[in-house]
Amino acid sequence: MPISSDHITRRRVLTRSAGIVGFIMGGLLTHTSFAALLPKPTPRQSLGPFFPDDGDEVDAIRENSNPDLPISQANDQDLTFVKGRKGKAKGQVVYLRGQVLDAKTGQPIPNAVLIMWSASATGRYNHKGDEGTHNFPHPKTGKIIHRTHDEHFQYWGKAITNLQGEYWFKTIVPGFYPIDLKAGLYRPSHLHFKILRPNTQTFVTQLYFRGDHIPNNELNQELLPNDVVILDAGLLPEEQERVIVDYAPDASGKITNGLIGNYHFAIPS
Ligand SMILES: [Fe+2]
Repeated sequence: MPISSDHITRRRVLTRSAGIVGFIMGGLLTHTSFAALLPKPTPRQSLGPFFPDDGDEVDAIRENSNPDLPISQANDQDLTFVKGRKGKAKGQVVYLRGQVLDAKTGQPIPNAVLIMWSASATGRYNHKGDEGTHNFPHPKTGKIIHRTHDEHFQYWGKAITNLQGEYWFKTIVPGFYPIDLKAGLYRPSHLHFKILRPNTQTFVTQLYFRGDHIPNNELNQELLPNDVVILDAGLLPEEQERVIVDYAPDASGKITNGLIGNYHFAIPS
């Protein structure tokens, strides 16, 4: 992992564990305070139409959106280049890291499989179903955006949590894209996730971006409350807040290596 978060995340786990042990051993904490120790559940959101099929080449155009098929080839955490090709994905690089936790107990979930996918920096999915408007005017500047494929973007990634339930991804900020130009509907930049763990229901959601250095940050924040997926999922403002990740430069203030965001998924048992 290029960025060490071991110390911070272990301390969080220890703090959480200490609280739960204190509750069990001493019986001093009320039920309410025990609940306060638990992470708030990550809201579910829809899979979307562009989930890839299994078995194709990494940059093949996918046709099948069957959600039960895992990806076998896009199987690493760095989406910013395609193996065997010289060149890097277009767009602002970001690192997303955190833990997968059990929402009921607060405990980390080891060996959970996270599959992440998104559009390219110009908002185009690597999927045959994404045949809509390929060029559109930026709603604020009027500048034409060409929704193009990026041969250096991996589009899908997979991470498996370690014993502390930790994961990380390196990717780019996907472009926002139009849903209905006439109606002025756009989807804000987002990452899709499918999380699998043995003997439990697959968990599906989407995460959004916020931060001074995020491309189109102001527009993205404006789009969020009226986003079709967020509205369809019935997310209250407080729940919307729980699927937005703040990205910032590293401790030295540099963004050249990529912005950093932290996110803990809290999913059902
Ligand atoms: Fe999407």
